[in-house]
Amino acid sequence: MPRWVVMKFGGTSVRSRDAWENIEAQVRREQAEGRSVMIVVSAIRGVTDLLQQIAAGERGADAVEEIESAYRSLLDEMGVSASLDPALEELSKLAANPDRGTDPAVQASILGLGEYLTCACGGAWLRHRGIDTRDTDARTLLTTSPSGSNPSADHLAARCRPTPSPETAERLADEGDVHLTQGFVARLPDGQPAVLGRGGSDTSAACLAELLGAELLQIWTDVPGMFSSDPRALPGARLLRYVSYREAQELASMGARVLHPMSVEPVRRAEIPLQICWTARPEHQGTLISPQARDFGAQVKGIVSRSGLTLIVMEGFAMWHQVGFLAEAFGLFRAHGFSVDLVSTSEANVTVSLDLTTHLVDAEALNRLVEELGQICRVQVIDQCASVSLVGMGIRTILHKLGPALEVFEHRRIYLVSQAANDLNLTFVVDEAHAEKLVMQLHQQLIPGGVGGDTVFGESWEQLHRGETSNGGPAPWWETSRDRLLDLMAGRSCAYVYSRPALREAADRLLSLKHVDQVLYAMKANSNPEVLRELGSRGVGMECVSLAEVKRALAEVPGLTPDRVLFTPNFAPREEYREGFELGVNVTVDNLFVLEQWGKAFAGQNVFVRLDPGSGLGHHKLVRTAGANSKFGIVEEDHDALVALADRHNITIRGLHAHVGSGVMHAGAWHRTLETMARWLERFPDVQVLDLGGGLGVPDKSGDAALDLVALDEGLAELKQQLLRPVQIWLEPGRYLVAEAGVLLARVTQLKGKGEVQYVGVATGMNSLIRPALYGAYHEIANLSRLHEPAGQVCNVVGPICETGDILGLDRLLPTSEAGDVLLIANAGAYSAAMASNYNLRPPAAELLLD
Ligand code: LLP
Repeated sequence: MPRWVVMKFGGTSVRSRDAWENIEAQVRREQAEGRSVMIVVSAIRGVTDLLQQIAAGERGADAVEEIESAYRSLLDEMGVSASLDPALEELSKLAANPDRGTDPAVQASILGLGEYLTCACGGAWLRHRGIDTRDTDARTLLTTSPSGSNPSADHLAARCRPTPSPETAERLADEGDVHLTQGFVARLPDGQPAVLGRGGSDTSAACLAELLGAELLQIWTDVPGMFSSDPRALPGARLLRYVSYREAQELASMGARVLHPMSVEPVRRAEIPLQICWTARPEHQGTLISPQARDFGAQVKGIVSRSGLTLIVMEGFAMWHQVGFLAEAFGLFRAHGFSVDLVSTSEANVTVSLDLTTHLVDAEALNRLVEELGQICRVQVIDQCASVSLVGMGIRTILHKLGPALEVFEHRRIYLVSQAANDLNLTFVVDEAHAEKLVMQLHQQLIPGGVGGDTVFGESWEQLHRGETSNGGPAPWWETSRDRLLDLMAGRSCAYVYSRPALREAADRLLSLKHVDQVLYAMKANSNPEVLRELGSRGVGMECVSLAEVKRALAEVPGLTPDRVLFTPNFAPREEYREGFELGVNVTVDNLFVLEQWGKAFAGQNVFVRLDPGSGLGHHKLVRTAGANSKFGIVEEDHDALVALADRHNITIRGLHAHVGSGVMHAGAWHRTLETMARWLERFPDVQVLDLGGGLGVPDKSGDAALDLVALDEGLAELKQQLLRPVQIWLEPGRYLVAEAGVLLARVTQLKGKGEVQYVGVATGMNSLIRPALYGAYHEIANLSRLHEPAGQVCNVVGPICETGDILGLDRLLPTSEAGDVLLIANAGAYSAAMASNYNLRPPAAELLLD
């Protein structure tokens, strides 16, 4: 049996000499593997558009000339000659055909000619390079299955349903091991010309793979693969390494434009793996669509949105238990030429969505539809809606895990929810204006290693475009410092340990951002004096939320001047503001009340004001700090009052401050904040500083993708250039600077089995680390005493506190632990000691520093 691989090269992957050098290299590689190759090509980019204009009767000989010159320059660049004349002569003849605007058979002939021209050039190049290449006409291989009733569709949006043909596979392989053929074109059973519709080359290639029983189908294109969201809107979207056929179909039809949705079906039927390959970086693995993707289990793989939806809401008692109501209503949609997209029904309400962007219908038709529907029920039309969909296999089985992420819909009006029966997508229809933000928030909640493993996610779009590859990053510092950590634990039951080098590295990473003028440390994350001194010594300023923090910072950090301290109190007593001004630190006002009631006392001062940018982000709803449900900041409607109060008391607003939340993993969040604040600059003429807040997240699991600081800096650079006037940009991260530098160590005290559940008890619990109990936060746990032993036990790691919530980690796979072992809880440098308590009169762990 011959072993076939089908490779399809799109318009940008065939348009230059470089592109053909790549094709040649790929062919040689496959030959070396002993496979026969079927190369399927598109027209070079831009040509099909010209052909379309010719076929529409809009253009003629001039467009033919443009096409000819595109192909002639390709031949020149490649330094080969080929006979383009037969195809060009046919094209000229067809371009002069007066019926071309109306006859679909003529149109199909015209549209397919680009592919023939590419084949002529490519064949010449490959043979010139010594590859014995057979020209195989796609019309001898692919026969369409016409509807018989719609000639236009049969010629111009044809469908193929090939039957695997071992004889053809055998025969072609006997003729030669490299074949070159046209994508997009096929023939009707009676021999007339047909094309498969725009994007049809992918489908051609998939049909040929099915026909030949290929081992692999490769689609070569100008993007790296499929992404977890639309990368143009969300550059932090991550490459999907493994996707199942159904997920790929769903993502492709929901808007991921890499692949034509129809192209998946043939390879799915034949279970042929489909690899999306990136022409710019042929060695990159791209996206693999295959049956194996099922092995990764249920998981959200993508968040996609589609705007331009119109909802039709039908209500009324007439439909209650009325046989045939739906049939009658849907009959009207059909009669008026509307195809229904999503549907949700209840006893008294049927809501459907229409995608008016893909259906060319006039507004009049919609009015007529609504009028006729109005005779059988009450109708409401809601336009400017968008769908936001979570796509991934087995969504139904992980609904409980999606709960926290779905909190982003709080205070957003959801018009329709639909969960497809194929268990692949969960769709919400919302106001168009909210869609983009919701996609970003959901992506942030669900994609970076949130639900399910991280194996399926590759680099982000922006990392790929910077030429980076993810390699999982170095091992965490505590792995290499294991022996010293165990020594520190001699005679102790528990301790927090902070690594000085890790603190330095985090600080230096942030200080190297070129477009951030000042980094302030939000010392609430960890106010240990050694930590403050270490960060202060590297040039980091301090952000404080209480007078006690201000005093500690000034007392403990040598050389810290008050101008590098920002005091950001919230609902604090008047006295704290007064003392803040006295100490000379920058004081932030985040409520009009402060100026209304105490403004006189602040006369002549400079202040920062904390503004509410409207909607929050973060790892948990309790750490999102914007929007009406968060107590922080002054809303936009109050800006005028704010300016008036400041003027009345002769107070200068020197800085604007905003902080959307904590534990944010997408660089775009700070860009959005800056965009919002930039709009406000005009209203605040004395402002010299924009403080974009903190919130910079760290990955929960070692090996997961880190926050992309390069993208953060590049985005700031771009936005800074567009500002009304030059101002400084400040950031005030807490977690980012300290979280990874700290670990909590605790000895195993007791073990217990309860039915199936194993408990490993350690010497300290929520009194030292409350984040798992408070936010369901995930902290990686390792048995430091048995770091390199195989993990064989799933257990719950708990503390000694008298609360069911005293949990440090649930369902952790660890080596079987014994009393006296030292467990390590990672990422405990931020909000751990700082939030510790003496609950149960159990003092929290002591803090140690490792140099
Ligand atoms: N700036 C302001 C105004 C803040 O409210 C906060 C945090 C930060 C900066 C620093 O955020 P960071 O960079 O650390 O994310 N206890 C929670 C975090 C609460 C954060 C409160 N405000 C946790 O353990 O996740």
